[in-house]
This record gives sequence, C-alpha cells and structure tokens, in this order.
Amino acid sequence: MALATASRGLILGIESSCDETAAAVVVRGEQTLSSVVASQTATHAAWGGVVPELASREHLRNIAPVAGAALRQAGVALSDLDAIAVTRGPGLAGALLVGTSYAKALAFALGKPLIAVNHLEGHIHAVLLEARQQSDEELRMPALALVVSGGHTHLFLATPPENLHEKSGSAWRYTLLGRTLDDAAGEAFDKVAKLLGLGYPGGPWIDRLAPFGDPRAVPFALTRIKSKPHLVGKTPRTKGAITSPVAALDPRFLFSFSGLKTAVLRHVEEHGMRTAAIAREKDLSAMAAAGRKPTLDDLRALCDRQTLDLIASFQAAVVDNLLHRSFDAAEFAEAQSLLVTGGVAANSELRLRFTSEAKRRGLPIAFPTLALSTDNAAMIAAAAWPRWVAGDFAALDLEADPRLVLA
Ligand code: KG4
Ligand code: ZN
Repeated sequence: MALATASRGLILGIESSCDETAAAVVVRGEQTLSSVVASQTATHAAWGGVVPELASREHLRNIAPVAGAALRQAGVALSDLDAIAVTRGPGLAGALLVGTSYAKALAFALGKPLIAVNHLEGHIHAVLLEARQQSDEELRMPALALVVSGGHTHLFLATPPENLHEKSGSAWRYTLLGRTLDDAAGEAFDKVAKLLGLGYPGGPWIDRLAPFGDPRAVPFALTRIKSKPHLVGKTPRTKGAITSPVAALDPRFLFSFSGLKTAVLRHVEEHGMRTAAIAREKDLSAMAAAGRKPTLDDLRALCDRQTLDLIASFQAAVVDNLLHRSFDAAEFAEAQSLLVTGGVAANSELRLRFTSEAKRRGLPIAFPTLALSTDNAAMIAAAAWPRWVAGDFAALDLEADPRLVLA
C-alpha cells in the first residue's frame, strides 16, 4: 500500500486484550487527540478476578460505542484516518478476538491499512508517547523497559530504528532480558489483597494502605534465582499469557513472586490473621451490596496494625525485587534510560524508589501518567506509528494471538 505523503498520520488504536475496552486517536505517535477507556472492573470485582467469558461479552457490548466516542472526541471522521491499529496479543483469546475482528472489519470497509501491535510494545510506547508530549528532547536510547502489570513482569532492551521518522523499512527491536518465572507482580498484589480480604483489583488498595504500616515489620528475603535447569525447553505460565522460553535468559534478571505470596500466606496463618481477613471481606461486600464505595478511611478502619505492617512489608519486598533486577539489567545492557510501564507502574512506592535510585545512578527514567499506566488504546496507536512509517501492515486475515511474543 502506498504511503500518502500529505497524510496527517492519524491512527485509530483499538485495545481489548484483558478487561478494558479502549479506543484512541493519536497523530504521528506523538499527539493524543482522544483516549477512551471502558473499564470492566466492576463486572469482574464480584468474582475476585477477570472472568474471560464476561470480558468478551463486555468487549462486544462496548467496542463500537468506545470507538465512536474516540473519533467524536478527536473531532475526526473515519475517512480522515490513515490506519487502524489493534492489539493482536498477548492476552485473553476471546477478548482479543473482539478487538481484532472489529479492527479488521473497519480497515476492510474503509480500505485503510491495518496495523498489528503487541500489547507489551504498546505499554512501552505509552511512555515514549508522553515523553514526546512533555519535552522536545527524545529519551536517550536504547532504553531498558520494565513492563510490570497484572499479566506481565518483563524486562526488554528497546532499540529504535535508525531513523525514526523516515520510511526506513526497519522497526523497533525488543530484546527480552528477563521475566517472571511464575506470577506477574500485579497478580501477586491482587492475590495478597484477596488473601487479606481487600477485594479486587487489590494493587491500588495495597498502594494506598502501605504508608500506614511498617515496611520493616516482616522481613521478606529478596528472591534469589540461582539456576533453572528444570526450566530448559519449558515456557512459564502466567495469567493470561504464556510467552517466550526462559532457558536462554540470565538468572540475574528473572523474577519470581509466587514464593513471596506463599510467605505472606504462611505469615497470615501463623499469626492467626485469617479470621480478621474473612470479616474484612464480609464488611466490604456488605458495603458494595449497599451501593457504597469504600474510602481509604473505611479500609484503614478495617485493618489492624498487624495487617498494615504486612501490607507495607509485602509491597516493599515486591518493589525491592523489581528495583534490583531492573537496574542490574540496565547496567548490563548499557541502557541509556529506563522506562517503567504497565498497571503496577502506577504504584507510588515503586515510583519514588525507582526515581531516587535512577537519580543516584544518573540514569534518565520515565513513567507514563497514571491514566496511561494501565491498559489504554493511545499506547497502541502510538506503537503503530513507526510500523506505519515502515509500511509494516497486517493482512486482513490477521488472527489474534493470545501467546504473542515480543521480539
Ligand atoms: O496494565 P494493567 O491495567 O493490565 C494488565 O495488562 O494486566 O495492570 C493491572 C494490574 C493489576 O494487577 C493491578 O492490581 C495493578 O496493575 N495495579 C497496581 C496499582 N494500580 C494497578 N499495583 C500496585 N499499585 C498500584 N497503584
Ligand atoms: Zn497491560
């Protein structure tokens, strides 16, 4: 397909990989005209986690209105668009299928190019998009990117094409340096919150409650991964996605959060904290049934000192794990900057500690704003721009790939 030189570079992004239906219009990967997100959190909260069938149903219901709202808010007509970009994977199969089917139909009907984007690539470009909006100076490259969410905890070295803004035919390169062997960090936040009766998703509650506890109260050791012969040829399973094999990766850059989760469980059992957690869960359910959203004060009142200390200690341990491996990997790969992105990048303690360590080391660091930390479609439209420049278009028989690997 020929590139129209007079084009404005308007890309409509569509995202439906998990529990957010999103659409956005972004100009040339740098100016967001609209970003609309329909969250399904309320639907899934009652089940304590994302229910794939419910997610697909909600995406089906929301996709057309959300895309329509994104175009309206951007003041853009379908005919103005230069391309339709969509998340191809990784994610929930049925959820991805809704987005890809919608995007394919739209691209076909409009006769516009279709661009397939990896969800993790999207999270990385969320940071680049905002960095461009905030400053004329590009972030120094290559960058070490920590993608840390409910489904992923991955370290990539991200290298831009030689000339970002010319039709070079080359694309960004992403080299996987590390990843979790079991749970994603966000999954650990959510599971620990559930164990403590705090509801779903628990990450934001743990973030808000942690400042009221003592992070040194419960000493959790830094998880060490010495060798992994049992993993050769295997692919670890994390929520929603199975990605690349880990055998080739340096153990220094591998994460493991399931041991930490078990240590929290053991602490709860050994200190008789289970009954209080069940009572807390009941109190929160009663509030929800009465149509009342709990406030931070409500949650604080329901948590005793022991629980607040455990929350603070758990969060500090997760941040410690993420911090050490990320900075070690950045140094090893001679990264010129560090990007931290994905839902858990919204965590306040993580932002503070990463920022101060980056300052200490003189390494530029960037996070997305809170709105672009969690799933959205502006990041998908932004990631699609260099692919548009390179003429890297997808065929109209594109299939969603729940296990799509970023490379
Ligand atoms: O990126 P995201 O919206 O969806 C996935 O791709 O998974 O991330 C959602 C995850 C959830 O596990 C949620 O608990 C976690 O991000 N999260 C947080 C915070 N905000 C969201 N975890 C810790 N602190 C937060 N402030
Ligand atoms: Zn995500």
